[in-house]
Amino acid sequence: MRAVIFGAQGVLAQALASELPAAGITIVTALGHKDCDIGDGQAVSHAVTTSRPDVVFNAAAFTDVDRAEDEADNAFRANALGAQNIARACVQSGATMVHYSTDFVFDGEQERPYDEFDPPSPRGVYARSKAAGDSLVQAATTRAFILRVGCVYGHSGKNFPSSLVRRLRAGETIRADRDRMASPTWIGAIARASVALARTNHFGLYHCTSNGETSWAAFAEFLAAELGLPDARVEALPTSGLRLKAPRPRRAILDNLMLRLRGLDNFGTWQDQARAYLASLGAP
Ligand SMILES: NC(=O)c1ccc[n+]([C@@H]2O[C@H](COP(=O)([O-])OP(=O)(O)OC[C@H]3O[C@@H](n4cnc5c(N)ncnc54)[C@H](OP(=O)(O)O)[C@@H]3O)[C@@H](O)[C@H]2O)c1
Repeated sequence: MRAVIFGAQGVLAQALASELPAAGITIVTALGHKDCDIGDGQAVSHAVTTSRPDVVFNAAAFTDVDRAEDEADNAFRANALGAQNIARACVQSGATMVHYSTDFVFDGEQERPYDEFDPPSPRGVYARSKAAGDSLVQAATTRAFILRVGCVYGHSGKNFPSSLVRRLRAGETIRADRDRMASPTWIGAIARASVALARTNHFGLYHCTSNGETSWAAFAEFLAAELGLPDARVEALPTSGLRLKAPRPRRAILDNLMLRLRGLDNFGTWQDQARAYLASLGAP
C-alpha cells in the first residue's frame, strides 16, 4: 500500500510516520505546511496525483482553537476547504482518504456519550470549521474514513495534554480545568486505529477515543502519580478561571460505537493508554 500524508510536522502525522512502515504501508511522500498548503486545490491535486497513492492521510489542520476565533477564514480554509481539496484529489486519483475530526463538533451538553449518529452541534470557529470539513469530505467521496478524536496527546505535541509530562518533570505548576471532562487519548492508539481502518473498505465516520472519562486536572494528577512525583503542583481551576477565548465543550465524551460494532475498538481505558504512553517514553 502506498500512502501520502498531509500535515507532516504535526503530532498525529509524526505518529502515523512511525506506525505506517511497521504495518507494511509505504509513505511515498509526507508534506508539511511549507511543502503544500492544503487550501490550495491545485497544489493538493498535483501532490496526490503524482504520488499515485492507495491512501491519503489528512493530518493537516488549523488546530489553534483560540486563534481561530480571530482568524476564521484561515481556519475554514484549512479545515473545510483543505479537507475538500484532499477528498477531491483522492477521487481524481482513485485513492481512499483518512481524515481527522474532533469531539469539538459537539457542544458537550448531552448527558450520554455521543455516537456517530448524533447530529453535530459545534460552538466556536474551530469547531464549526471542522464540522464543515466532515460534511465536505462526506459530500466529495464515499471512500473516506473520518476519525473523530479528542484530548489527544503524544511525544511531540504542542497542545496542553502533550506538554504535561515535560512540565510536571520540570516542576512547573499545572493550571488545569477541573470542570471539563474528556477521554485523554494517546496518539499512538489513533495511528493504529487509522491503519486498521485503512486496510478495510468499511468507509464512514468513526469515533476514536479511549474509554472512560476524567477531568483535565485529574488527568494531570494521574500522570504526576504515575511518574512518581508526589510533590507535583496541579492547580484545579474552573473553566471560567482559565480565560480561554473559544468555547469548549464541557463534556464531549465520544462513544466508539462503529468501531465496536466492527470489532475494531482496541482503545482500552484512558488509564491503560496513559501507562502505555509513559512506558513508550521510558518513564518514570
Ligand atoms: N490534538 C488534539 O487534541 C486533537 C483533538 C481533536 C482533533 N484533532 C484533529 O487531529 C488532526 C491532527 O491534529 P494534530 O494534533 O496532529 O495537530 P497539529 O500538531 O497542530 O498538526 C497540524 C499540522 O497541520 C499543519 N497545517 C495547518 N494548516 C495547514 C495548511 N493550510 N496546509 C497544510 N498544513 C497545514 C500545521 O502546520 P503549521 O503549524 O506550520 O501551521 C501542523 O503541522 C487535526 O485534524 C485535528 O483537528 C486533534
